[in-house]
Amino acid sequence: MSSTRSFPTSRPRRLRSKKFLRKLVAEHQLSPHDLVAPLFVCENNEKNLAIDGMPAVQRIPLNKLASKVSRIHKLGIPAVALFPVVPVHLKSRYSSEAFNPNNLIARAITAIKKVTPDLGVITDVALDPYSIDGQDGITNVAGDIINDATLDALSRQALCLAAAGSDVVAPSDMMDGRVGAIRTTLDKHNYQNLPILAYTAKYASSLYGPFRSAVGSAGNLGNSNKLTYQMFPANSQEALYEASLDLQEGADMIMVKPGNLYADIIWRLSQECNAPIFAYQVSGEYSMLSHLGGTDPEQRAKIIMESLISLKRAGASAILTYFAEEAATLLS
Ligand code: PBG
Repeated sequence: MSSTRSFPTSRPRRLRSKKFLRKLVAEHQLSPHDLVAPLFVCENNEKNLAIDGMPAVQRIPLNKLASKVSRIHKLGIPAVALFPVVPVHLKSRYSSEAFNPNNLIARAITAIKKVTPDLGVITDVALDPYSIDGQDGITNVAGDIINDATLDALSRQALCLAAAGSDVVAPSDMMDGRVGAIRTTLDKHNYQNLPILAYTAKYASSLYGPFRSAVGSAGNLGNSNKLTYQMFPANSQEALYEASLDLQEGADMIMVKPGNLYADIIWRLSQECNAPIFAYQVSGEYSMLSHLGGTDPEQRAKIIMESLISLKRAGASAILTYFAEEAATLLS
């Protein structure tokens, strides 16, 4: 704070008085290049493409993926993040479908790379879409999530994703030591150059509901929760601890999730860490903001832009958002 002048000499409203001035003095910018589009990929025979609570978002059958990613690529969005809608009969106790080299995600990567080889493909490392209990890790008979047994499964899953052509792997499971385990496995198999985007500060949030119904894990999870591994919403210091561990273990980028409700965490990590911070504007945030936008396109556009610039202002270098295509269209 160096300015010693005050009213009436100082009038901050002068620089707000004209559009051109507001543009020139804007401290933060949003570009399509900041965005990642999360996509829910399903098999071609999937009947129900609609998602509860996400009116303008749909599950995408494999045979519609090419046109979807072409549009995304043309808009200047650098990457997509894939999430599978795993058919119920392929879910299992140990999530073995996650290691099937020809699983839905592997085929989706192939389909994307055929039409848009330059579009980045980020894939999720976690077992929840594949497991019968909807948990991100392997459970014992008592229902507890077994950390170290899960690390082997996650490493195997990450290796399959790497072999399938994923450009970035993103562990979202919140097991202790997973970044290190995945890094070691990838390096051992000559994937030293494959970046890891760690979901570093992933909170046990109640804003993931629409996502869970989109991938079809809501019913599997039932009344259980993820409080023993995802972070407690009352904590912020702990996010710094998680970040230091993930970076030591070899994470290249770190993520905060949810985004808008946890902007303070994005800010703290961006001040304290020398790694790019990603924000995930999650399904429940999308849902709330969409609802507020109502049916008025202008109102919706303003809400989208404000919610995204707030994440940039907080310190995010990139944002995963279900508004990615709409926002990029508005920006172009
Ligand atoms: C699970 C995962 C979740 C999301 C991304 N990966 C849900 C969960 O942890 O239960 C949520 C994303 C969203 O709500 O948009 N590995």
